[in-house]
Amino acid sequence: MREDIQEVLFTEEQIKDKTKEIGKRISEDYKGKDLILIGILKGSVMFMADLMKEIKIPCSMDFMSVSSYGNSTESTGRVKILKDLDFSIEGKDILIVEDIVDSGITLSYLKDYLYSRKPNSLEIATLLNKPERRQTSIKPKYMGFNVPDAFLVGYGLDYAEKYRNLPYIGVLKEKIYK
Ligand code: IMP
Ligand code: MG
Repeated sequence: MREDIQEVLFTEEQIKDKTKEIGKRISEDYKGKDLILIGILKGSVMFMADLMKEIKIPCSMDFMSVSSYGNSTESTGRVKILKDLDFSIEGKDILIVEDIVDSGITLSYLKDYLYSRKPNSLEIATLLNKPERRQTSIKPKYMGFNVPDAFLVGYGLDYAEKYRNLPYIGVLKEKIYK
């Protein structure tokens, strides 16, 4: 798989350090609150698992699955809920956990959707942020790294469901998807 990667942007070690830092901030900010982490399947699973271990206050987790990309590398702008939450979030402090915020279309839709269920608060934690590509006013409260406008894979991020198992994050060679 390494031969399909043009450049490694973040190593396992760098991701670990950053996750620790974000977990520490969340632990301080949410002390005494009723925190629920909501992971967006499937890209967020690695970050969710590692981040949760770095949160030192009581919290629970749930997952949602939404479709936006199919097998292409461009967002379709359409968001469909494939798996909804298992529990009520009314009065809870919700932190959406994402792998990457790109156009922001997925999250802007999800935020509106979840707000209607009356959480006490609703914020976003994303490992990666692609500011150049933003089409919405979404601003994650916690952001790991800003990344350039390139197609990235690894540590949960996929291209056509592959490469999620890479322990690092890298730029996928253009010839793989062009
Ligand atoms: P958005 O709605 O455009 O912000 O897209 C968000 C979702 O698109 C993310 O949760 C990812 O699953 C996927 N995505 C965006 N950029 C990339 C990328 O560079 N590599 C892999 N998946 C990506
Ligand atoms: Mg995703």
